[in-house]
Amino acid sequence: MESVIVAIDGPSGTGKSSTSKAVAAKLGLSYLDTGAQYRAITWWMISNGVDVHDADAVANAAAKPVIVSGTDPSRPTITVDGADAAGPIRTEEVTSKVSAVSAVPEVRRLITELQRTIAKGAELGIVVEGRDIGTTVLPDADLKIFLTASPEARAARRSGELKGVDVHATKEALIKRDAADSSRKTSPLAKADDAVEVDTTDLTLDQVIECVVTLVDEKRAAA
Ligand code: DC
Repeated sequence: MESVIVAIDGPSGTGKSSTSKAVAAKLGLSYLDTGAQYRAITWWMISNGVDVHDADAVANAAAKPVIVSGTDPSRPTITVDGADAAGPIRTEEVTSKVSAVSAVPEVRRLITELQRTIAKGAELGIVVEGRDIGTTVLPDADLKIFLTASPEARAARRSGELKGVDVHATKEALIKRDAADSSRKTSPLAKADDAVEVDTTDLTLDQVIECVVTLVDEKRAAA
């Protein structure tokens, strides 16, 4: 079977991670969560006392952490300097600071390079999820998907994942993070011109997965 590269972009709470992992597992492809990499570098900055709002300090330190992503969709992993980072990168502190760190061009340059190397090394193909995969990281991807959903649906999903978190506060935080990610100068969150937009507001996760798998099958059949 031909190797296939699938880019799945969109704001948070659209079901990107669950969809990407399931599609990769179904099709026997590798999986890369690029948001986890930006979270990992943010966690390293915080842990090493770098002021995340000082862009020069962040840029100067950006090459220091060694970030390794495991690409098995049934067991994705992430380490920073050899330490398991899966838990620490999901804290509220990291979530609130990741947009500032990921807006620094040197951070994006290094992480983009890492992402391209991982995608190139995936023999059977890969599903890469993020914000700028179709536009910047892998502009020649075989299939580009842009997932959307209403802010209400996204906030409800996120607060369901984080037990005990208020939906209204989650919605405000999501809108703020999306605005920062969409308005940054370097490779903002954006839909590629040739991406297929899928609005997941009224779809179940299984329906979204099926829709993306069908799109991949169609691409392969047409190739
Ligand atoms: O998908 P996520 O919520 O874990 O992503 C965390 C942050 O990382 C997101 O707010 C913006 C940044 N990010 C990015 O700038 N580019 C990507 N390709 C993926 C994530």
